[in-house]
Amino acid sequence: MEIQTDYLVIGSGIAGLSLALDVAVSNTVAIVTKKDMMEGSTNYAQGGIASVFDPDDSVELHLKDTLESGNGLCHEDIARLVVENGPSRIRELISMGAHFSHRKDNRELLDLGREGGHCRRRIVHTKDMTGHEVERTLLMRAQENRNIQIYENYMAIDLITRSKMIKRGIITSETRETCWGAYVLDANNNKVVTFLAGITVLATGGAGKVYRYTSNPDIACGDGVAIGYRAGVKVANMEFVQFHPTCLYHPLAKNFLISEAVRGEGGILVDKRGKRFMEKYHPLKDLAFRDIVARSIDMELKKTGDECVYLDVSHKPDHFIKNRFPHIYEICLKYQIDITKEPMPVVPAAHYMCGGLLTDNKGLTNIDNLYAVGEVACTGLHGSNRLASNSLLEALVFAKFAAESSSRELKTRGRTVLPRAPQWDLGSATDSEELVVITHNWDEIRSFMWNYVGIVRTNKRLARAKSRIVNIQNEIKEYYWDFIITSDLLELRNLAQVAELIITCASLRKESRGLHYNLDYPSKDDKYGRRDTVVWI
Ligand code: FAD
Ligand code: SIN
Repeated sequence: MEIQTDYLVIGSGIAGLSLALDVAVSNTVAIVTKKDMMEGSTNYAQGGIASVFDPDDSVELHLKDTLESGNGLCHEDIARLVVENGPSRIRELISMGAHFSHRKDNRELLDLGREGGHCRRRIVHTKDMTGHEVERTLLMRAQENRNIQIYENYMAIDLITRSKMIKRGIITSETRETCWGAYVLDANNNKVVTFLAGITVLATGGAGKVYRYTSNPDIACGDGVAIGYRAGVKVANMEFVQFHPTCLYHPLAKNFLISEAVRGEGGILVDKRGKRFMEKYHPLKDLAFRDIVARSIDMELKKTGDECVYLDVSHKPDHFIKNRFPHIYEICLKYQIDITKEPMPVVPAAHYMCGGLLTDNKGLTNIDNLYAVGEVACTGLHGSNRLASNSLLEALVFAKFAAESSSRELKTRGRTVLPRAPQWDLGSATDSEELVVITHNWDEIRSFMWNYVGIVRTNKRLARAKSRIVNIQNEIKEYYWDFIITSDLLELRNLAQVAELIITCASLRKESRGLHYNLDYPSKDDKYGRRDTVVWI
């Protein structure tokens, strides 16, 4: 089956939906999303969106905090663009129907939260469920738009590119690499559908599932990075994996995040004995940059042999906690933890991928017609450590830039005559007994990534991880081509590819900076380290 559309948007989070809504004014848009359309990190975002609204705040201050957090690797021009454009994008969300929290003392003003590394209150939020409100609003608008068609349980496999056509003898002229859409697995019917598009957008989110412990939902397997890389897109800074300092430590609470906003409102980190420890590590204590807090917790745990540390907000009034953090309060209560009375057990977990598909200041990759927006992209904003709540902001702003630039491009060149792409061969062999290979490899990758390529790395651990991933990739290659393609197999292939990219980038950086900490090179090297790590096929 073949579907032709002006835009193919892969992913229905904040990035994909924002872009789709912008371009749908004058184009047809197909959004493919690999599970339920609400499912993605956006829906779970808690803290909020960082932006300058307080009269005491300024673009310069937000920029300064962003650059400081990024530790010498942010691209200042990009950071300025993002910070400057934040307020208008948030106003646009409000005009679409998003309800953000307002101050009790002045209902006209947004209630601005505080998070680590921010010198001012600037986090626009909907209590502790900001992402859900944003996702709800954008989806509602997308579903009522007649130019947008959403395909649920459709998983992108690979891009359709000029060089693939050349290899198959369909095209002969060798000009710039160009993308014409993607092959997508319709998991409802187990068929591969060919989507041909004038513009293709990868908005597939992050890759937290590469690690055993993560705050991310199950969709976050790094598909977009793997798909882009295989097609020849440049990938940058994959060594900078952000570990969120505080995920709930409870055997049944899979992936549950405790927002940094809890510390922003006075929550403090303590050890098992109730002793504060962050003052030993940084003058900003519990509100230091995220890389520092996560690493400090890791050090405390290694030193004490404890399984977790604790986050205590119980000194704040009950009504404040229940009103400001209703979701966190409810979920913790479900696990018999009453946060108005006792501290919550927490540990760090993989949270955000600062690296990704390298784009220019419009979200365009090095392949014509192919854009990347949201967490899948590396725009230059985050450098070596993303500032809290700058991710939703980046997605909103870059979705706009990419929408404007690509629709201008489509208008100028007119409707593209799309080449006929060959049908995807779905494979034929099945051997359900061998499916155990998938789960085994999946678990193995996540374990060794956690142990060897986690918060603290060494050359030896990276080398071990490299040899493991090479073996697994060889096994997958064999398996992948012999058997019928399933979503699980596709995810495993992508997860392995992303793990390999993280290991490669981490091995190339011979210093410690931001989120990349290697005991064999414990210091920052400003002579050689102030550059992006870029890899491509
Ligand atoms: P997502 O929202 O993750 O959407 C990705 C989409 O791509 C999904 O629809 C998914 O199904 C689809 N997809 C993936 N692969 C494929 C494929 N192969 N084929 C088809 N579809 C595919 N950031 C902040 O700025 N502020 C916060 O408060 C905040 N809180 C967070 C809390 C949690 C628990 C988590 C996990 C993250 C948080 N972040 C926060 C980070 C932020 O939420 C994400 O970076 C952001 O939502 C990413 O948006 P996105 O649109 O790029 O991806
Ligand atoms: C949080 O609420 O702590 C998450 C914020 C973020 O990831 O930016």
